[in-house]
Amino acid sequence: MEIDEERAEVFIRAHSKGFPEYLEVLEKEARQQDVPVIRKGTQELLRFLLCLKRPKNILEIGTAVGFSTLLMAEYTGADTKITTIENYAPRIEKAKKNFVAYDKDGRINLIEGDAGEVLKSLDDKYDLIFLDGPKGQYEAYLDDILRLMPEGALLITDNIFKEGDILESRYAVERRDRTIHARMRDFLLRLRDEESLESVILSSGDGATLSVKI
Ligand SMILES: C[S@@+](CC[C@H](N)C(=O)[O-])C[C@H]1O[C@@H](n2cnc3c(N)ncnc32)[C@H](O)[C@@H]1O
Repeated sequence: MEIDEERAEVFIRAHSKGFPEYLEVLEKEARQQDVPVIRKGTQELLRFLLCLKRPKNILEIGTAVGFSTLLMAEYTGADTKITTIENYAPRIEKAKKNFVAYDKDGRINLIEGDAGEVLKSLDDKYDLIFLDGPKGQYEAYLDDILRLMPEGALLITDNIFKEGDILESRYAVERRDRTIHARMRDFLLRLRDEESLESVILSSGDGATLSVKI
């Protein structure tokens, strides 16, 4: 039986505990302004994984206006630090405002710049990395991401199906989307073949991967 994605989303919402009011408001505002933020299914997944893993040092690639960053702050303790990277000035400005308003204990560190460059300059270890930046660069980022992950660290990647495009043959997608199609497939193959990772693809939402460093 085919699962209708929109119905699944509505169903998940109906059976969700819900999120604090300020996060619901931020999500709504972001959607109204066409800012891409994680879908409900990914929000639920992230919350669950945060409660399970209890990470102390999180790295996020792709802040947008800080919605997922604040969600991660909401479901981690006061001793968890979150570093997040964004390069698009209007979103950085909005994210900063949101962090001033809602990151009360100052646990979020926003790094402004190109994620590829920033990743190369980092040398901390992160026990959870949330990769939600430019979809065509995931494979290019992987070596640095692996360097930043200690054993047991978790990598979560969002939107790996790219609205279903990745499931189609290269010839079935628009010509302008073929590079990203090839790169995302390369990324998924690398996750599969990477000996230091155990990975799983989840088909919920727009697709996600979970990888643990072994
Ligand atoms: C899907 S959005 C992130 C959504 C956010 N994680 C959330 O759910 O609230 C991806 C973000 O990555 C940013 N981005 C794209 N290319 C980038 C790059 N090279 N370096 C840093 N950020 C980048 C985009 O500007 C965009 O805001």
